Amino acid sequence: RHGLLAFDPGFRSTAACKSAITFVDGDKGILLYRGYPIEELAEHSDFIEVAYLLMNGELPTVMQRTQLDLALGSHNLLHEQVLSFYRGFRRDAHPMAVMVGVVGALSAFYHDVMNIRDANDRQLAATRLIAKMPMLAAASYTYSIGRPMRYPNNKLDYASNFLQMMFGSPVAEYVVDPVLARALDVIFTLHADHEQNASTSTVRLAASSGANPFACIAAGIASLWGPAHGGANEAVLKMLMEIGSVENIPKAIARAKDKDDSFRLMGFGHRIYKNFDPRSRVIQAQAKKVLTHLGKDDPLLEIAMRLEEIALKDEYFIGRKLYPNVDFYSGILLRAMGFPMNMFTAVFAVARTAGWVSHWLELQGESHGIDRPRQLYVGKALRHYSKAK
Ligand code: SDX
Repeated sequence: RHGLLAFDPGFRSTAACKSAITFVDGDKGILLYRGYPIEELAEHSDFIEVAYLLMNGELPTVMQRTQLDLALGSHNLLHEQVLSFYRGFRRDAHPMAVMVGVVGALSAFYHDVMNIRDANDRQLAATRLIAKMPMLAAASYTYSIGRPMRYPNNKLDYASNFLQMMFGSPVAEYVVDPVLARALDVIFTLHADHEQNASTSTVRLAASSGANPFACIAAGIASLWGPAHGGANEAVLKMLMEIGSVENIPKAIARAKDKDDSFRLMGFGHRIYKNFDPRSRVIQAQAKKVLTHLGKDDPLLEIAMRLEEIALKDEYFIGRKLYPNVDFYSGILLRAMGFPMNMFTAVFAVARTAGWVSHWLELQGESHGIDRPRQLYVGKALRHYSKAK
């Protein structure tokens, strides 16, 4: 067919890879970080402890956690020349476009510690990336609204620091709301890693060539931005706004089922989960908690919950095992916390950096050759050139 050359019968996908970091059972809706259920970590742990677990394979001792906190606190500033990169962007640039550019630019800043054959240098590169992402992301927001960039405050924890850099102002003291800080920390934990998703596979492929870790993470940010992946949380909110009311849900469901209509239920379905994404339940609960705490009543939450209820009774979705994924409720929660829609995926990128650097470290530890996915050739068979008549 298509002049397909007889390809090597021993052809096998080189796409499968081995990793000890995250386990997903899509049929059962199970997600484990280094063997720990995501539900337990979201309830009892915190993002920095989870980042340590993902990078090192075990939960930190008190001393190890203190050392990581100190390391993150001494590397969370951006080089002043990095800040000047922001001024080259239009104010209305998408934060993910800015982050791809600025994180990539970081690869031009740390030659002194970039011997990736050295375990300490590797750990430092990973720590720097986790440490700097909150200021990088917050700066892409404050720049877009013409507000001065804010620096981290090492008296605050990771999530609180991100909130004050995002929403603080030079003319008034920013008081961190502990309920919002906890909700953001849970969001970070839930989004920290997820096996071989598109952006993590992008990071691993770049890392397998021995590329600079900052450049590898910039590649991951680019991949995460897509609406079929990390960009889905922004797409979910736009979809809910377009639906507008509970009465319009049946029409949306019909459009999602219509093959001739490109409309999909954003936040529904998953490459692996053919059951509930365990993260979506935790995020839905946090969304309700934050909205109640803030005394807000978001009509989009009601539309989302009714949409889920109706879709999960519909044979089209049941038959295809399409359930809400991590992105279905995260946008509602982030909006309730004050994040603008175009920052949703940037928040995802801050969290997923913990997973990306863990996979980068895992690959450095192996005598790993360059990854080289193969293909099924469906082009023209061999033929010879002759001049056009
Ligand atoms: C993330 O990989 C990861 O781990 C990603 C992630 C992570 O943590 O890194 O979990 C984060 O990216 C979550 C996914 C966010 N994306 C969305 O919510 C976008 C909406 N979802 C769809 O685009 C879709 O479900 C995908 C992209 C997620 C999966 O696409 P697939 O693999 O093509 O879906 P499928 O093979 O399971 O589809 C089977 C059928 C198809 O119909 P048929 O051809 O069989 O008739 O289901 C249909 C699809 O058309 N379908 C949908 C649908 N998703 C799949 N129909 C309507 N609405 C949807 N959302």
